[in-house]
Amino acid sequence: MADDRWRMGFHLMPPIGWLNDPNGLCQLNGVYHVFHQYSPDWPQPGAPRGWGHATSTDLAHWEHHGMVISPDTPDEASGSYSGCALVMPKAAPNGSDAVRFYYTGNVKEQGDFDYILTGRRATQILIESDDGFAMGDKQVLLRNADYPAFCSCHVRDPKVWRDADGTWWMILGARDVESTGLVLVLRSKDGYTWENAHQVRSDAPFGFMWECPDRVVLDGNTYLSCCPQGMQAYPWSHGLRDQAGYFPLPAGCDLSDADSAVRADEFALWDNGFDFYAPQTFTDAQGRTLLIAWMGMPEAPYVSAPNDLTWCHCLTVPRVLSRLEDGSIAQQPAPELKVLRGEKVELAGAGTSALLEHRADIEVDGIDGPFFLTLDDALEIAYDGSAFTLRFLDIEGVGAGRTFRNSALEALHDLRVLVDDSAVEVFANGGRLALATRWFPTADALRVSLEGTCSAAVAWPMGDGVRATYTQ
Ligand code: FRU
Repeated sequence: MADDRWRMGFHLMPPIGWLNDPNGLCQLNGVYHVFHQYSPDWPQPGAPRGWGHATSTDLAHWEHHGMVISPDTPDEASGSYSGCALVMPKAAPNGSDAVRFYYTGNVKEQGDFDYILTGRRATQILIESDDGFAMGDKQVLLRNADYPAFCSCHVRDPKVWRDADGTWWMILGARDVESTGLVLVLRSKDGYTWENAHQVRSDAPFGFMWECPDRVVLDGNTYLSCCPQGMQAYPWSHGLRDQAGYFPLPAGCDLSDADSAVRADEFALWDNGFDFYAPQTFTDAQGRTLLIAWMGMPEAPYVSAPNDLTWCHCLTVPRVLSRLEDGSIAQQPAPELKVLRGEKVELAGAGTSALLEHRADIEVDGIDGPFFLTLDDALEIAYDGSAFTLRFLDIEGVGAGRTFRNSALEALHDLRVLVDDSAVEVFANGGRLALATRWFPTADALRVSLEGTCSAAVAWPMGDGVRATYTQ
């Protein structure tokens, strides 16, 4: 029953099969929609990949609707890849908000190709929907011949927005023929017909491809979020090829500005854990910017479906973004998750507490000096006075190959740790540092051990907002 044991209670995961990037995030007429890359037939070789769909009215209780965009046209034969949603206020026939989905159709031709300069088609596709559920026809907007001549075949993952003047903008992740990553910026008057506007590159080459670009605007400041590939040689990359982070744009500059450029040395990782990639943001009706990422990592040297699990990966919880004085971005779990909290438990300030289940929301405040919080004697969250470390003490078993992650930190003040069966998200110092990891615990009860000085340490068992829809 290990399969069931590791299913989560408040992280979105596939009912069965494979999940990767979050797609089409939006709040439409009061309903939160989270789409995601989905292959229900995984691990069958060549399992079709399309968009799965989950909805919620409170970000805590979710319903899954299965695969709702399938790779069923010749322009997406190898997958209906990642994309975004754009809410169209009052555009539905009944006067409510409608939505447009922009995504990439991926086709790998049969034959002897390198799939970089030849053999791959990347088509940008639009689907209009009046309610987020009923999908209109697929409209092809852009094909490889429409992108600038310096592009390789790798052009994907559209993110679309409209500016105050009503101009439409699209960014696409791209790899050029020299294998340098960049973002293409396109412009439109109506969201249907697009023209190339300009590109955003870094001052120095930074990876061979930028996947999943996103535009984040916080307090009037724009950031380019993206996932550069080819980063394994950077000392901070832990040898991983793919990374997820953001570049701040110069003050007053937006991606629509023709001369926008970013600085490679200003790239900041979103998350310092093991399992975080392809984040996407959206603004909800309250005006909050929320981020959800894939809690997985392409080509990682560790495992996410041990014991022949019939499902693989999950998404992070929704994280609320805020801009800090130094221009960096803090991330905190959406406060709505607190509705899943059970009765509060005081944790032994120093020592070990056993909680009943493997789902808990842990808060530690007033930390002073070195501090250690260990879960099940297997996963240590440690601050030694200068470095913050997430370390698996049981690398092969509970960690499924995960080792440790280190970040320099001047002082640790507080910790929030969300434990959800096989997912853990750690937020330090009000979300200035975030670390996501999968783990595969085997003990029945969660053991939380604390060592060090703090003013308060509490935990709440967490209820189940998603499991019902996955086990029916
Ligand atoms: C990122 C990514 C995207 C692509 C999708 C395919 O993880 O490779 O670039 O659209 O996944 O599933």
